[in-house]
Amino acid sequence: MKFFIDTANLNQIKEAQDLGVLDGVTTNPSLMAKEGITGDENIINHYKAICEIVDDNVSAEVIATDYEGIVKEGEALAALNPKIVVKVPMIKEGLKAIKYFSSKGIRTNCTLIFSPAQALLAAKAGATYVSPFLGRLDDISTDGLTLIEDIRLIFDNYGYETQILAASIRGPLHIVACAKIGADVITAPLSAITGLLKHPLTDNGLATFLADHAKASGK
Ligand code: E4P
Repeated sequence: MKFFIDTANLNQIKEAQDLGVLDGVTTNPSLMAKEGITGDENIINHYKAICEIVDDNVSAEVIATDYEGIVKEGEALAALNPKIVVKVPMIKEGLKAIKYFSSKGIRTNCTLIFSPAQALLAAKAGATYVSPFLGRLDDISTDGLTLIEDIRLIFDNYGYETQILAASIRGPLHIVACAKIGADVITAPLSAITGLLKHPLTDNGLATFLADHAKASGK
């Protein structure tokens, strides 16, 4: 299972990279705005800076919503660095652009997936990744994990190579649930990734080991 971090914050990306378990980064226009990154040139430079930190898989989202615009923006983003994956929204024009990018060998992440039907279409168009947003479904009292399960079943039925990138993850339990279902990738905030480390029995056990060692050593 691949781990991506869902942020545009360079310090958090570095911290996750230093953990040694990071496979990529997802950003979106809201995450860029949260970091105060505005203006085309700054946004481009920010993507380049992210590519310097991680080994691969930097999702960069297009802003255009028409086919020509998506293709133009996506090609420019892909040309920045071979690590870039062009993030395209699940709309009709986006679907056509994904097909085009796929024919050109440009990797894509089809974002804002909220139904198995949308994931099936994106896979048929040749998306590298589909991003079902499970947390946002949970937020409206709809089981986001069922969506991941349904997409897994459909992709396995037909052997689609498109990878399921579980997005909008809210915490460590979401990550574990996605792993049990067989999502290929999760993208999560740093807190959800580091949350996987934690267990009170580990902390208590270590405290006892260290205390016993100190006592036995006469310290
Ligand atoms: C996916 O790539 C998105 O950036 C992200 O996971 C959205 O998550 P949110 O629902 O926490 O905004």
